[in-house]
Amino acid sequence: QHSGRNIAAFICESIISCGGQIELPENYLKTVYKEIREAGGICIADEVQVGCGRVGSAFWGFQLHDVVPDIVTIGKPIGNGHPLAAVVCTKQIAEAFANGMEYFNTFGGNPVSCAIGNEVLQVIEDEKLQENALVTGNYLKDQLKALQKDFPIIGDVRGQGLFLGFELNGKNKKPLGEKASCLVNRMRDFAILMSTDGPDHNVIKIKPPMVFSKENADELIYRLSIVLKEDFMQLTD
Ligand SMILES: Cc1ncc(COP(=O)(O)O)c(C=O)c1O
Repeated sequence: QHSGRNIAAFICESIISCGGQIELPENYLKTVYKEIREAGGICIADEVQVGCGRVGSAFWGFQLHDVVPDIVTIGKPIGNGHPLAAVVCTKQIAEAFANGMEYFNTFGGNPVSCAIGNEVLQVIEDEKLQENALVTGNYLKDQLKALQKDFPIIGDVRGQGLFLGFELNGKNKKPLGEKASCLVNRMRDFAILMSTDGPDHNVIKIKPPMVFSKENADELIYRLSIVLKEDFMQLTD
């Protein structure tokens, strides 16, 4: 602003994914959206990872924060494997494009992709996958918290629905990235694919397919409890 420039936009995920499955503090988005709009910017919700019912109690992550973005970006799950992404915006934003500049995109509006996207949305509704994300996700989160009592190496357990994560920490919350990587590799031996996230690579992310069942959750917890007993996973200092 000092050099005569203004804010164009603010873009944010409703749960920070690759940053380590970080849930936003209460009222964070509400406060920031207000500030950005007062400064003349627009607010964009990145729903590429969190959207489409995965957080369970809402279809879109931003709904958890009681805000309405000007633009929503949607990707990965909307195509369920088919390469598809979409942008949804307010009428006011769309009209700003109708100024003769001719926005063009080679693959935009592909009818086959659109049919797939529609079908994915229908399956999520028909098979009650958002409800499954809520019920199974809550169950899994409770089980992870119970596991935390037996294995103090498990730090914070967080997330919503089937968008969960847990930290591996030592004393004084020292991030244990190497042990997290070891855990992920051992789980692969049981045909369970997991991976790490966060700046210290010590957060195990759990974002399974939305058909993930209670039995799948039990299997995951059982295998985790086996690996967490192994020598390398013990806290040494
Ligand atoms: C949160 C998030 N936003 C945006 C993107 C980019 O989406 P796309 O690859 O569809 O451009 C990704 C991943 O690629 C992502 O994880």
